[in-house]
Amino acid sequence: MKPFVALIAIAALPLSIAPVHASPELAAKSNCMVCHDMQKKKMGPAFNEISTKYKMGLGCGKADSEAMLTDSILKGSKDKWGKIPMPAQKIPPADAQTLAKWILGC
Ligand code: HEC
Repeated sequence: MKPFVALIAIAALPLSIAPVHASPELAAKSNCMVCHDMQKKKMGPAFNEISTKYKMGLGCGKADSEAMLTDSILKGSKDKWGKIPMPAQKIPPADAQTLAKWILGC
């Protein structure tokens, strides 16, 4: 009977080992969504538009597109999308990189 009990114990292990969708939460937590939306232009361009624009020339896995967006997030950006500039975001560089990857859809 013992092996049977062990099996049940294993089956009852939490199934929540799947990866969390950290980036949408990180974007919300970092206040990005105050000015950005996935689909629609708000004060800043839609993340989908940003993804489309930079994927065309550079693409996923290319360090330069990731690095460039990480830089824009940390240092701010202006004159690329319109007249409103984005102030430098006070977030950890590792978070900015995670967000840049996520925006690119990588
Ligand atoms: C105060 C409003 C505001 C906040 C907060 C904000 N953004 Fe922006 N963001 C903008 C605006 C406006 C632009 C367009 C700037 C331009 O024309 O260059 C922009 C542009 C961008 C771009 C494109 C940069 C480029 O090089 O083309 C990225 C990526 C981006 N934002 C990500 C983020 C992330 C991630 C956060 C949260 C950590 C964030 N933004 C928070 C307003 C904001």
